Amino acid sequence: MTERRAAVLEAFRKQIAWCERLGSPFTARLLGLLAEDLAAGGPAADLAGHWPGDPVADALALRLAGALHALVLSGEAPALAACYPPRANARADAPDAAALRAVLLARRAEIAAFLASPPQTNEVGRSGVLLGGFLEIAHRAGLPLRLLEIGASAGLNLLWDRFHYTLGDAVWGDPASPVRLAPRWTGPLPPLAAPVRVASRGACDRSPVDLRDPAQRLRLRAYVWPDQQDRLARLDGAIALALGAGSRVEPADAGDWVAARLAEPAEGQATVLYHSIMWQYMPAATRARIAGALSEAGARATAAAPLAWLRFEPPQAEARPELRLTLWPGGGESLLATAQAHGQTVDWTGG
Ligand SMILES: C[S@@+](CC[C@H](N)C(=O)[O-])C[C@H]1O[C@@H](n2cnc3c(N)ncnc32)[C@H](O)[C@@H]1O
Repeated sequence: MTERRAAVLEAFRKQIAWCERLGSPFTARLLGLLAEDLAAGGPAADLAGHWPGDPVADALALRLAGALHALVLSGEAPALAACYPPRANARADAPDAAALRAVLLARRAEIAAFLASPPQTNEVGRSGVLLGGFLEIAHRAGLPLRLLEIGASAGLNLLWDRFHYTLGDAVWGDPASPVRLAPRWTGPLPPLAAPVRVASRGACDRSPVDLRDPAQRLRLRAYVWPDQQDRLARLDGAIALALGAGSRVEPADAGDWVAARLAEPAEGQATVLYHSIMWQYMPAATRARIAGALSEAGARATAAAPLAWLRFEPPQAEARPELRLTLWPGGGESLLATAQAHGQTVDWTGG
């Protein structure tokens, strides 16, 4: 076996362990079959075995799983769809190896085209973590919120105040919302009675998803693991809300965008710069630029125009993500929670 193919196989093994840890046994088994085919020099090796880049950093295994799920979701691979969730037994079964091999051979060109672009996801479950931060800011500032999200992808988490939440025994939000989040909650609750008013919503992404384009919608849906149908349902609910709301994510680098937005005055509003699971994807210079723009704007903040930096990010690679809040004037920082990366469990400390 070539060195390159061995590196690809190792990347698949790492991703299999992640899928098992993050509650996607079907995807773990699917990747296991693909790894066997790669090792045997089958059609998966032809598609992915000569990958020129770093197969871990490029999330190659997830790209291949996404390519196959896109074919299943679009109805173009009925034999494969028959052994995918939500079919009754699919959660317990491994996908059928013969059906998988047939699709890899018959759909080689589409799969190769899908592999060429980086994964694009937008995890609505993260609003179940961010909500507590927004409530904390609304409670402490007592002002309408001016929302600024970076790395917003399709902008679905811009609409967090239009979702319904069950946090332990408590509920928050619109009871009729098509997006219903119920993370497993431990610890006290955030200030659920805080008056929340959203003054404005702005967002940017280096490569935003345009939800009006069916191909981009399919790509976003394809990156949800097939045995996590609840995630797919809330994604679909959020897509419907966002299309109705006409949400817009500006195509921009976060460094430029933050500098411009924080230079604008916002008297009578609490400016909230927030992000989830995107910090690690920016170069160190961009991260430093954003931190610099925040501390400069923080120095100008007043009680009538406060500034909040809310982020849900892992403190280092592969660590459990933390929800942290820095609030100016003052610049005091608190660790509000730690949570599972998709927001399935939240351990709230409240700082
Ligand atoms: C893993 S996704 C997370 C998306 C979303 N925040 C969520 O939690 O679902 C990371 C996002 O960061 C964006 N991104 C990476 N570097 C960026 C940059 N320098 N400026 C703006 N967006 C960036 C990517 O395009 C991608 O949409």
